Amino acid sequence: MDILKGKRIVIGITGSIAAYKIPYLIRMFIREGAEVRIIMTPAATELVTPLTLSTLSKNPVTVELFHRETGEWSNHVELGAWADIMLFAPVTANTLGKMAHGIADNYLTTSYLSAKCPVFIAPAMDLDMYLHPSTQENLRILKNYGNRIIEPQTGELASGLSGPGRLEEPENIFSVIRNFFIKKESLKGKKLLITAGPTYEPIDPVRFLGNRSSGRMGFAIAEEAACRGADVCLISGPSDLQTCNPGITRINISTADEMLKSCIKEFPESDIVIMSAAVADYKIEKPEGRKIKKTSGNLKLELVPTPDILATLGKKKEKGQILVGFALETNDGIANARKKLSEKNLDLIVLNSLSDPGAGFGTLTNKVTLIPAKGKISEGELKSKREVASDILDFIEKIR
Ligand code: CTP
Repeated sequence: MDILKGKRIVIGITGSIAAYKIPYLIRMFIREGAEVRIIMTPAATELVTPLTLSTLSKNPVTVELFHRETGEWSNHVELGAWADIMLFAPVTANTLGKMAHGIADNYLTTSYLSAKCPVFIAPAMDLDMYLHPSTQENLRILKNYGNRIIEPQTGELASGLSGPGRLEEPENIFSVIRNFFIKKESLKGKKLLITAGPTYEPIDPVRFLGNRSSGRMGFAIAEEAACRGADVCLISGPSDLQTCNPGITRINISTADEMLKSCIKEFPESDIVIMSAAVADYKIEKPEGRKIKKTSGNLKLELVPTPDILATLGKKKEKGQILVGFALETNDGIANARKKLSEKNLDLIVLNSLSDPGAGFGTLTNKVTLIPAKGKISEGELKSKREVASDILDFIEKIR
């Protein structure tokens, strides 16, 4: 398969001794037909020469942002716009820190900041530097920004010590990238309907009933699905989040009734539907036309149920369509989620953990259990929402 043929890969190399492994990696990419452009930090040029890398990559290597002799500068936005992916390997603790905190003091770090494509980061350093809380915190920040970390291996290090921090072997880095491009096509031609965020149910013209959902989980699924080639319709309740992938069409709604209307319209054309929205279960039947005035007495609000969108779609589901719901439970999680799965005629239910501090509403990370209608339950780890989104889509692709 010509998976890598014509793929545009930018490799950023920093000053870790493991830089000596990168020429081998470049050869593997070139052999598979990829186009490779190399960026280096000045420190990296002490370890492997730009001449070696430009010969192997068949392209000039960029190190400096400014060229004193000619008065020119290298356009750092250019490679960011050109690349299908950027791979930073090896990345030192120093550059990791700069990337995590937006410091752009050389061509490599400015290119990272202007990347529009998926970014892979493969750290390499001595074990004490790797295990230092600041490095671990920087890795966490970078993951939460949606970067994909290629974790270092445990083994012999250049210092003579042994432990975590050893750059992942070039063959394995190569397969991570190759698998990424295989996956990229995996939802091509499929229409996905994804709901996200809260709904706001009006009480009067200025007040509403809502919840703390940020929409991050649903937006992460939409981004990941679009990256896999799907045509995504994202129906979102009020959320500050933005979508940047051209494969996503966003429909903004506010109430459960509006969400139902849009879902019913889009549903017949959809192959896979993922309801991650935190839809209000109740609404005020007739919101006041005017702002409710304060009185000295109590105020009673009578609430009526909203339509259950997922259950409505479950009744309309045709053969071949996949319907996925979310569940948030405080007790008997798996049993309650299973009950929802069968009552709403779902193919998969994603059970959110409430017991982990980093999971659930408003966080950048999440931890979920995937419960299919048929087959084995899969319990996930605490991960960035983007990684959880990827796990959910991998699971759906398997049951499809
Ligand atoms: N859901 C929906 N329409 C509603 C309420 C929920 O489509 N009016 C969807 C959610 O998007 C989610 C799933 O149903 O995918 C489960 O939501 P949850 O609130 O956990 O369950 P409910 O069925 O509302 O039950 P309960 O609140 O009693 O647990």
